[in-house]
Amino acid sequence: MAALDPAQAVSVHIHIPFCDRLCWFCACRTQGTRTLGPVESYLGTLEAELALLRATIPVGVRMGRLHCGGGTPTTLSPAMIHRLGQAVKAVIPPANEWEFPVEIDPTMVDRAKIAALAKEGMNRASIGIQDFDPPVQAAIGRAQPFMITRGCVDDLRGAGIGSLNTHLVYGLPRQTEDWQVETVDKVPTLAPDRVAFFGYPHVTWMSKRKG
Ligand SMILES: C[S@@+](CC[C@H](N)C(=O)[O-])C[C@H]1O[C@@H](n2cnc3c(N)ncnc32)[C@H](O)[C@@H]1O
Ligand code: SF4
Repeated sequence: MAALDPAQAVSVHIHIPFCDRLCWFCACRTQGTRTLGPVESYLGTLEAELALLRATIPVGVRMGRLHCGGGTPTTLSPAMIHRLGQAVKAVIPPANEWEFPVEIDPTMVDRAKIAALAKEGMNRASIGIQDFDPPVQAAIGRAQPFMITRGCVDDLRGAGIGSLNTHLVYGLPRQTEDWQVETVDKVPTLAPDRVAFFGYPHVTWMSKRKG
């Protein structure tokens, strides 16, 4: 860290390993929580790590990209979003032009959280869709009515988020070709800037959740 060149912007990744509920297909490193207690204590740990970083990195290093992923970063309350945003920027200030993408689950976010992220500088959002078909959603433990996703997209655009990425997954349990075509046909109605299509491996021996 001490050898970083202040002339080169760095990329920072913050992982928030919590979700309000766990989807059965998910391979991300995360854990479920119904309270903010563990999130609060994790924030304290991140702040301690940032303090170590402050003592090490050369003055003048700037952040060209701050990626906030998970898990679900929007398990953080608006106050926590500001606390984390300010803590990171105090140690590594953003470059004049910087990217701040955030992974968002439409079922775990509201306008106040989107407003807090936008205030901290979020300029790209990646939203998890996976599949719009209710039986597939039931099979993966993730109820997400289309109108929830639509509302989230409208709130993100309303908050001035210029770049929107959507995540779809193929190979999920109960997915049929017809339903997948229907999901893919619906996605452009959300006018995303980018669509990521991930393949799902049903590896039950690697994850108990998928069993
Ligand atoms: C960190 S998660 C998404 C953020 C947010 N928690 C959500 O669910 O919308 C990133 C994305 O990875 C993909 N993903 C997760 N587990 C996967 C798996 N087992 N196979 C393929 N894609 C997966 C999903 O599309 C998911 O939206
Ligand atoms: S898909 Fe997203 S919300 Fe579901 S368990 Fe994985 S990280 Fe959490």
